[in-house]
Amino acid sequence: MNLMRSTRTFALLVFMLLVTSLNPGVWAQAPLFTSAIASAPHQAPGAAEPWWKHALIYEIYPRSFQDSNGDGVGDLKGITQRLDYLQTLGVDAIWLSPIYPSPQVDFGYDISDYENVDPQYGTLADFDELVAEAKKHNIRIIMDMVMNHTSDKHPWFIESKSSRTNPKRDWYVWRDGKGPGIPPNNWQSEFGHSAWQFDPTTNQWYYHKFYIQQPDLNWRNPAVEKAMFDAVRFWLDRGVAGFRLDAIPTLFEDPQLRDAKETSGTNAYGDPNLDNTYTDNLPEVHDVMRRLRTVVASYPGDRVLIGETYLPNIQELDKWYGGASHNELNLPMDMQIGFTNKLDAGLFRERIEDVETKVHGNQPLVVFDNHDNARSWNRYGDGVHDAAIARVVATMLFTTRATAMMYYGEEIGMVTTTPSRKEDVKDPIGIIGWPKEKGRDGERTPMQWDTSLNAGFSTAATTWLPVAPDYKTVNVEVEGREPSSLLNWYKKLIELRRTDPALRDGALTMLDSTNPNVLSYLRKGPAGAASVVVSLNFTAQPQTVSLDLAAAGVTANNVKTLMTDDSSLQSATSLTHIVLPPFASWVASVQ
Ligand code: NOJ
Repeated sequence: MNLMRSTRTFALLVFMLLVTSLNPGVWAQAPLFTSAIASAPHQAPGAAEPWWKHALIYEIYPRSFQDSNGDGVGDLKGITQRLDYLQTLGVDAIWLSPIYPSPQVDFGYDISDYENVDPQYGTLADFDELVAEAKKHNIRIIMDMVMNHTSDKHPWFIESKSSRTNPKRDWYVWRDGKGPGIPPNNWQSEFGHSAWQFDPTTNQWYYHKFYIQQPDLNWRNPAVEKAMFDAVRFWLDRGVAGFRLDAIPTLFEDPQLRDAKETSGTNAYGDPNLDNTYTDNLPEVHDVMRRLRTVVASYPGDRVLIGETYLPNIQELDKWYGGASHNELNLPMDMQIGFTNKLDAGLFRERIEDVETKVHGNQPLVVFDNHDNARSWNRYGDGVHDAAIARVVATMLFTTRATAMMYYGEEIGMVTTTPSRKEDVKDPIGIIGWPKEKGRDGERTPMQWDTSLNAGFSTAATTWLPVAPDYKTVNVEVEGREPSSLLNWYKKLIELRRTDPALRDGALTMLDSTNPNVLSYLRKGPAGAASVVVSLNFTAQPQTVSLDLAAAGVTANNVKTLMTDDSSLQSATSLTHIVLPPFASWVASVQ
């Protein structure tokens, strides 16, 4: 996992300054791109395109979105109440972080029953109502499926732990230690310290890639696959549109349990850094993915498989699609683009080109924000131009050819609000790793709806995490009224992406490909229709670009701004000598 954290000093002040200094109404127009990559998307001629190809998938962290019963924790009925908002924003599907019964050690990623709903979030009936109401809003529901591990309170593990001869013993990864008090090998948990936990009842150790309370399932046992695929069918039968597969590259471990090699330095928990060859992304996982794809594809309606795929390079990402066979995940997340974590035009160009050209025409899925990483506002912001930078990020998300995934609150510029005292931390890694690792609470604070108590999230006296202090100005209600708000920037981009034929399907070609400061690209329109050019200044200095579309076979007799956050670019009529102010975004139609 790529857990990045940063503080957000001065963010509110800077946001307010920028918002008030902008000219409202400036964002009423067009998009822009330059460099030709064209790869044929994988699609049988004449076949209807799957719904997810052009979708906006919106991640909801259920604890933090909307509390309907005043207990300070978000719930399913709360999400149902907010469907109008999501529809207006332009959301096609919700990825629901885990809502299953759970001791909540890892806030739902420790599941104790795969076929029910945690009472904190509601009931199965509330879930069915959410699916039905969402459908009326043209919104699908995607479940988070955690297949690598269960909770230690899951009946499977309780049985497995009870004796060495229990029929479920082999459902988990149990081994003898190397000696008294010495674990089977040097593997470490992603969340700090040894990945092995000793169980005195049976004198063996079990493997846990994540928390001690999250024992890993043994995927070499076919009964595990069967049980998990049954859970998958349970939700497909209830009408879900697909799954986001949690930590999916970690399903298998080296059967010989070879020690990991130490790399350099130590991590936030003080452990030596290890090479993860024996614990991550083992090739066996692809057989499981192909079988899972067969199960999911047997249901009507283009159900989708999305992967949480932090991978080292594009070649590995391609394998998760099934490469040229297109028979594994539909949308493994491209974590190389959104988690570049610095505004480097060359790096973004290279990574966008990679996913355009090196995944056998499969559909890219781009994401900048989730519940495990400091918010993109802070990861990309420079503390001075944060709002403009957030617009650059959003423009990339919605104007490349990728399916777009976003995280609640990203659209209003919610910031990372990291606890300042260890005693306030809720996420256990923030307690284990304090002060170097302060945990993920900062990116999980309640959604900011309005200026009322708890930002409209809850009527409780206290909420499970505190509402961020900037909620009086950073919220849906206030930003909805402000034409130049980030929320309205998102809405316009999402609408443009939905309606403009070039942005919808056009091949992407990089322009001005050696420019280290400005990322520009073309989305080529269908014959006779306009193309779109996007140009994004990645620096705090004004930049001048001249874009040549000849190589892409596009003439630019008529240039018209579709969207920009700079008033001088509003009236641009040519692709030569375009002056982009610091961190400006420009999207234009060309014909
Ligand atoms: C990835 C999830 O996104 C994260 O929140 C969780 O802690 C780990 N997987 C373990 O399930």
